[in-house]
Amino acid sequence: MHRETSPPILTVKDLTVAFGPMERPARAVAGLNLTLQPGEILGIAGESGSGKSTLCNAIIRTLPRSARVGGEVRYDGRQLLALSEREMRGLRGSEISMVLQNPMTSLDPLFTIGNQVDEVLRERRRQGQSNDQVTAIGLLRRVHLTAPELRLRQYPHQLSGGMRQRVLTAMATAATPRLLIADEPTTALDASIQDEILLLFREIRDRAGTAIIIVTHDLSAIRRLSDRIIVMYAGRLVEEGPTATVFSAPRHPYTRALLDSLPQVEGDTVTLKAIPGQVPNLAELPHGCAFADRCPVAIARCRTEDPTEMQLGLRHRAFCWLADTAS
Ligand SMILES: Nc1ncnc2c1ncn2[C@@H]1O[C@H](COP(=O)(O)OP(=O)(O)O)[C@@H](O)[C@H]1O
Ligand SMILES: [Mg+2]
Repeated sequence: MHRETSPPILTVKDLTVAFGPMERPARAVAGLNLTLQPGEILGIAGESGSGKSTLCNAIIRTLPRSARVGGEVRYDGRQLLALSEREMRGLRGSEISMVLQNPMTSLDPLFTIGNQVDEVLRERRRQGQSNDQVTAIGLLRRVHLTAPELRLRQYPHQLSGGMRQRVLTAMATAATPRLLIADEPTTALDASIQDEILLLFREIRDRAGTAIIIVTHDLSAIRRLSDRIIVMYAGRLVEEGPTATVFSAPRHPYTRALLDSLPQVEGDTVTLKAIPGQVPNLAELPHGCAFADRCPVAIARCRTEDPTEMQLGLRHRAFCWLADTAS
């Protein structure tokens, strides 16, 4: 497919984001590399605290000022980390859309939902995307908001978290961005609505060739929706590959543990298996592999040497000393 061979729309090179004191930094993202092709859907998985939101925010430059960012984020030939705030705002309003994890900060509390949705529709017309009859009410219906007429007159604080999330999704999928970043866009929603919202993302990719990065704790959603997956642990990318490959043959013990923690359904019983142990403190990472303390197969080397990238097949890689041994 041409998608595979066209130049990437996004290239992240050796990205590092540190918080806290210089002498004892917590690296929420550490030396991360990834590329995204036009029209590709990339899923990001990993426990809470693994750096998924920090990665998304670093790409679109919505990190707090206290974050120290290194490396490169190249979007369509432009080095995003070097753009002015104004140039970046311009891109965010047109080519790059996002649904961030904390919706209260992404909607302007001073304007009604209607004002904000209308602004997106105006931008869409400015870009010459107005040949269809999309209305503000239609957009809210698409994300299954009840009483859309009322919602348009309301202010963000009058909506629940789940409703705000859906408004943001409606806005992000109204235009036809070239890159869409969605950080847990369905977390606060009922399971039945989650699926339909996720379908919206697929639809916009199919319709407009939008490249999408989607973060969700819902691995089954990633499995259904994404072409490729990256798994993060303690700020690092630990495994990456085509979704089908990673789900059928995960090579990093952390990926296996994550997949094992999917709810297991047997008859009427649903068991949730948590991964034993805890995510390490980022400011006090042990030597070697950050997962070694929780890893069921760790060997001595894992506690002394950082695992290097192991190429496992076409576009499949893992950072584990044991990734190329049978499990
Ligand atoms: N503004 C911040 N200040 C200090 N530490 C932060 C900040 N944002 C994130 N972190 C730290 O970065 C790590 C990763 O957080 P986050 O990117 O939110 O993970 P995830 O989205 O995977 O749950 C956490 O340890 C968190 O405490
Ligand atoms: Mg997050």
